[in-house]
Formats: sequence, C-alpha cells, structure tokens
Amino acid sequence: MQTRTPALLPPEPLRWRGFVAPADRGVGEQEGVDAALLQAPPFVRGQVPDQAETMYQRCLVDQTVAFDPDLIRRYDQSGPRYTSYPTAMEFHAGFGESEYRRACARSKTGGRPLSLYIHIPFCDTVCFYCACNKIATKDRSRAQPYLERVYRELALQSALFGAERTVEQLHWGGGTPTFISRDQMRELMDHTRRHFRLAADEVGEYAIEIDPREADAHTVALLRRLGFNRMSLGVQDLEPVVQQAVNRIQTEQETLTVLEAARAEGFRSLSIDLIYGLPFQTVNSFVRTLQRVVAFAPDRLSVFNYAHLPQRFMPQRRINEADLPSPHTKLDIIETTSELLADAGYVYIGMDHFARPDDELAVAQRSGSLYRSFQGYSAHANCDLIGIGMTSIGKIDNSYSQNRRTLDEYCRDLDVGCLPVFRGIELSRDDEIRRDVITRLMCDFALDVSTVERTWGIEFADYFSEDLPKLAPMQEDGLLVLDERQIRVLPKGRLLIRNICMAFDAYRATANGPTGFSKVI
Ligand SMILES: C[S@@+](CC[C@H](N)C(=O)[O-])C[C@H]1O[C@@H](n2cnc3c(N)ncnc32)[C@H](O)[C@@H]1O
Ligand code: SF4
Repeated sequence: MQTRTPALLPPEPLRWRGFVAPADRGVGEQEGVDAALLQAPPFVRGQVPDQAETMYQRCLVDQTVAFDPDLIRRYDQSGPRYTSYPTAMEFHAGFGESEYRRACARSKTGGRPLSLYIHIPFCDTVCFYCACNKIATKDRSRAQPYLERVYRELALQSALFGAERTVEQLHWGGGTPTFISRDQMRELMDHTRRHFRLAADEVGEYAIEIDPREADAHTVALLRRLGFNRMSLGVQDLEPVVQQAVNRIQTEQETLTVLEAARAEGFRSLSIDLIYGLPFQTVNSFVRTLQRVVAFAPDRLSVFNYAHLPQRFMPQRRINEADLPSPHTKLDIIETTSELLADAGYVYIGMDHFARPDDELAVAQRSGSLYRSFQGYSAHANCDLIGIGMTSIGKIDNSYSQNRRTLDEYCRDLDVGCLPVFRGIELSRDDEIRRDVITRLMCDFALDVSTVERTWGIEFADYFSEDLPKLAPMQEDGLLVLDERQIRVLPKGRLLIRNICMAFDAYRATANGPTGFSKVI
C-alpha cells in the first residue's frame, strides 16, 4: 500500500501552461460496491469531542489518496456513481409533465440560480466502447430538425422559470456537440440567450464536451466568443493499437491543436478524459498515454474505468473480450495512474477526477463548497438544473426528471407543444436527507454530524441507526473514522467512496440481484 500526498503547489519543473515532461510515476483511483449488509457493532457515541470540528476542517483540506490493492479487490462490487440520489433507476413513469410543471412552480418561489444542460446526440462515427446517449450518423442534415425542437423546448422551459433567475452554469454535452455547424452553434446560443439570462463570464461556468477530431482552432475561437470558458476533451488512449480496437483514431496533434487554441482564446479550465480497461491496454502502454497527456498540462483529468455492458450498448459487442486487460492488470493500471498523477502534482477530487491543486474544483473541495451533479463535480452552488434535449436529466426543486430517450418521441412531444418529460421522481424528505449526506461524503470525504442535524432537525445516530452499523467493517478496514461528531473518510477509503455512500442508500438496502451499475475493476 502506498500513500501519496500531493503537494499543494505543482512541483517546480512542472509549468502548468507550458509543455514540460512529466515525472513518470504516480496515483490512482476509485470506487464502488453493493452494500455489504453484514452484522456489525452498533454506532459508537463519540470520543473525540473537542477536536472534532478542527479535524473536520483539516479533512476538508486534505486531498491525500492511498492505494490498497487488497482492500480494493475486497470491496470491488458494482454500485452507483451517485451523480444523483436516488439514482436514475428509481425514476418512474408516474412522474410526467404535470409533476414537472409543479416542481418548476416550487422552484420559482425558491429562486435558486439555474444550470442548463443541452444534449447534442449526434456523432460522426461510433467509438466501440461508448456508453453515452448518442446517434451515430454521417448525415449532418439531421441536426437542424433536432435543433428546431431544442429551440421549442428552450421556449417552453424558460416560461416555467422567473426571468430574474440567472443561469450560472451551461453545459453542451453529447454525443458530439460540435457535430453541428458553426452557424448552428451561433443560432443555438442566440436562442439560449433569448430565453435565459446568462451570468457574466467571470462568474458563469460555461462548459462544452469536445471530440478533438470534430473541432479546430476556428471552432474553438467561435466557442469562446459564444461564451464558453471551460472545455473537456475526449482522448481515451493515445496508443494506436488501442485506438484501432475501439474505432477511435485520434492523433496527438489533433488534441494539441484544440488545447493550444483553447489556451490562446482564454478558456479557463481544460480537462482531458481517459479510459482504462480498454482492449490491449497494459500498465506500460497506459503510462505512455498518461505521460504524454500530463505533458499537455490539463487543469483536470478524468480517468474513467471502462464500463463494459455489451447487452446494453450494442457497439461494445464489437470489442473482443479476450483483448480486455485482466482485473489484475486494471488494478496495476489504477495504482500506477494514482502514483503518476500525484507525482505530477494532481490531487484526487473523487470518482475518477483529478485536478491541479489550484483548479477551481480542488479549491472548492478544500473549502467544503464542492457539489456533484450529472455533469460530475462542480464548484457552483446547488443550482436547479434544466435538462434540454433528448435523454437529458433535470433536477428541479425536490425532483429529478428525464426527457424522452428516442429522437422520434422527443420530436413528437415538442411538435404538439408538450414538454418531453417521460419519467422522474419527487424526492421524499428521507431522500433529501440521504442525498445531502451522500453529496457531502462524495464531495468533502467528510461529514459534519451537527450540520446535518441542524439542517434537517434530526438526531443523526437515531435517524441512521440501521445504516451506521454498515460502516463498522469499513472503519475496521481503515476506510473511515466514525464518531459522534463526524465521519471522516481516510486516504484508503477515498477510492472506495461509493461503498461508503451506499451505506446511506435506502434503495440499495432493499435491492436484490445485479444492479446494472459499473464496478471499480
Ligand atoms: C459523453 S462522452 C462525450 C465526449 C465526446 N463525444 C468525445 O468522445 O470526445 C464523455 C466521456 O465519457 C467517457 N465514456 C464513454 N463511454 C464510456 C464507457 N463505456 N466507460 C467509461 N467511460 C466512458 C469517455 O471518456 C468520454 O470522453
Ligand atoms: S465517445 Fe464521444 S464520439 Fe465516441 S461515440 Fe461516444 S459520444 Fe460519440
């Protein structure tokens, strides 16, 4: 087992904005499980009273991660990633347009800032590993009819929210958002600004997912002019044999061209997506990819575990399972990744995400103001999220809702003037309490018991008397410290944060059989 404590400032030789060779060792990662509903000793009332607050604060600034292969192996079961609680599996058809409209009315009186997610589903070619909601087509003329419906939805949605509400976050996701033409990008942003008031550039977080094969310096310049100030780039792996096996041929130069243009245009936060567990990856091959990517000096890195669910995602059937790395190799890859990224000065944010210590996410985590949503971690306060486009998910007041999942159904609803919401959930008070606890654990790796008690008017130990015993084996394994005042996730527990959160998940406690969620390894 190794413990890495990334320095708060990048090591001297690593100049973030320049391209400097990285150190070649590093850090790792994360995740999940199905709750072990084992008998365990009861919640022990606390023994660290006076220092608890100080320790809680200290925990918020400690972004250390420790890698313990035995523990990861032992806790390696499938589990949710908690981009929402309850998870999308609990959404149901009893929540439709009228329930959504009622949630929006409640949200209007709350007056929270808004977040807008706009989904562009099209991709020119399909990457075999892809688990995103996309439509593979070379027919670019399919974009305009879809966008016409998106404009209708923007108009319908904006009428449900007060004109005084500010949009603090905007995210174009996909699919491939730059599948649409530059004129269409301008038009989409015009419609958005016509219907919603976007916060100033210094305040707002305006992000777009970029496939570097589908963007050049002109596109990047236009996106910045349209207001985008953050970008994530899909890279996945730079090795030719891996790229071939997953049908995603992308040169290093294509990625660099977009990155350099984004820096020149003043994009504030640049993030790169990688995937481990793809065909033909080895520890050495992934280290080569990581070294080249770290040399690009992105502000953030997402290193996703390949979720291989060929029954659900057709293109994945074109991946030969015999070519996938073994669980043992994957474990070595995440350990090496952990070390390499720590040595390069990145801190572990949680759930696949790494960031420079001076990146907004890392700063927000240290100050206890990090949030988690469908787009991952965010430094912005808990906004009401409006999901626009097919398959998009919204989070309004105490509800989640999802739009129609096929293009035809989505268009049909909008053609008759209906909002395309087809399922969702209204959170009970218990859901909201548990969501708060899970969010704080995912974001802070710590939970201040008195804050939860004050916020929700509960006695923590009583309220969670059936859940807290599930943490006892994890405490014994050194994943966390639990006492009367706090839960503190220790460095060894951070890669296994999903397991810890699952102890508070009322739906997992009753779930039987396979969950359909991804695993750590
Ligand atoms: C919604 S996709 C959009 C990115 C963009 N279309 C591109 O390919 O560059 C966002 C990210 O999800 C990740 N991803 C897609 N399928 C995955 C899978 N099966 N397992 C893990 N990560 C996956 C990839 O890293 C991808 O960059
Ligand atoms: S990874 Fe990106 S480009 Fe590839 S199929 Fe998925 S959404 Fe499309």
